[in-house]
Amino acid sequence: MTEPQSTKLRSGALLEIENVGVSFGHTKVLEGITATIKPGTFFTLLGASGSGKSTLLMSIAGFVTPHKGTIKLNGKVLNTVPIHKRNIGMVFQSYALFPNLSVADNIAYPLRLRAKSKAEIDKAVADALAFVRMEGFGDRDTAALSGGQRQRIALARAIVFEPDILIMDEPLSALDKKLRDDMQIELRRLHDRLGLTTIYVTHDQREAMTLSDEIAILEKGRIAQIAPPQDLYNHPRSAYVASFMGESNLLRVTRRAGGGFSLNDTPIQSDHHPTLEDAWLCARPEKLMVSPQPGQADTVFDARLVEKVFQGESWLLECLLDDDTRITVRASDHGGSIVSTVAPGETLQLGLLRRDAYFIERTEEVSP
Ligand SMILES: Nc1ncnc2c1ncn2[C@@H]1O[C@H](COP(=O)(O)OP(=O)(O)O)[C@@H](O)[C@H]1O
Ligand SMILES: [Mg+2]
Repeated sequence: MTEPQSTKLRSGALLEIENVGVSFGHTKVLEGITATIKPGTFFTLLGASGSGKSTLLMSIAGFVTPHKGTIKLNGKVLNTVPIHKRNIGMVFQSYALFPNLSVADNIAYPLRLRAKSKAEIDKAVADALAFVRMEGFGDRDTAALSGGQRQRIALARAIVFEPDILIMDEPLSALDKKLRDDMQIELRRLHDRLGLTTIYVTHDQREAMTLSDEIAILEKGRIAQIAPPQDLYNHPRSAYVASFMGESNLLRVTRRAGGGFSLNDTPIQSDHHPTLEDAWLCARPEKLMVSPQPGQADTVFDARLVEKVFQGESWLLECLLDDDTRITVRASDHGGSIVSTVAPGETLQLGLLRRDAYFIERTEEVSP
């Protein structure tokens, strides 16, 4: 397992989820879940607490049986395959290491279950330890490990038997922020080296974006949208997705007779031409320019600054439009930025590029 980074160790499996539904008693927890997870993809289930992320993961692993739909691994229906025959590596939030076993024995456990020879086990355990950069820890007591080290060992144990897919349920959420940030980068590198199809659960949108090739947003047991991180962030399909994926301004706009939309009386220049009657303009705070130079922005409108907060790498500006709609602007603190000199009470011009003006359907159910 010491190949260069570009060499994938495995080809990864194809996972197809088709119209899966799960109920507990009379409560429908998942409905109409359909997703194709291509070989070698880092695929993340992202959603609020209770949206059904763990239930979907447990359905893939076999701990939960869907009442409807199919789950296929490399074309073979998994639904009736028992858990221990699914060949899936798993890592959970609680480390779930056996406290009475050494690090090496913990990692060896799945191989002993599979009745591998001692020589095979010793080699695979040494490789797995090296893979998670824990060489020399084999004889340690698991109680003596830090949180990050335990999760590395849990990961080594999950991949040591060469599973078809790796599933992880909030594996970093018990770690402190700095370690979590480091582990995210490390997990992504491990994934790239390993080449396994990975299905990851988190409620943290930044973590999801850092790690994933594709993200499925779960909203109350249904899929709200599946897309790569940049698409999801820049082109959210609904207000729910827009507000779940980071900060966003959802501004009520009106349809113009000649096509397009206006914000109050300002026509919004945009590359996006949806056939929507009722729309919100979705404008990310960091895409709004403060006092743009002539020609720098495609749409320019006035806003009154009410509050300005310095947050280190950026300023957060709270402004009001003519009709008293709130709009949040995030401006970087680079040299020459006008933001450091403007004061609450002043009227600013805000600018937006065509490509950053995106419209979504305005619904009554989810309001910003
Ligand atoms: N074994 C169970 N029995 C009954 N309800 C359950 C069970 N497991 C989960 N639920 C319910 O299903 C919903 C989704 O739960 P879960 O998949 O754990 O959500 P998430 O992981 O997104 O927080 C929740 O409302 C939860 O209360
Ligand atoms: Mg969960």
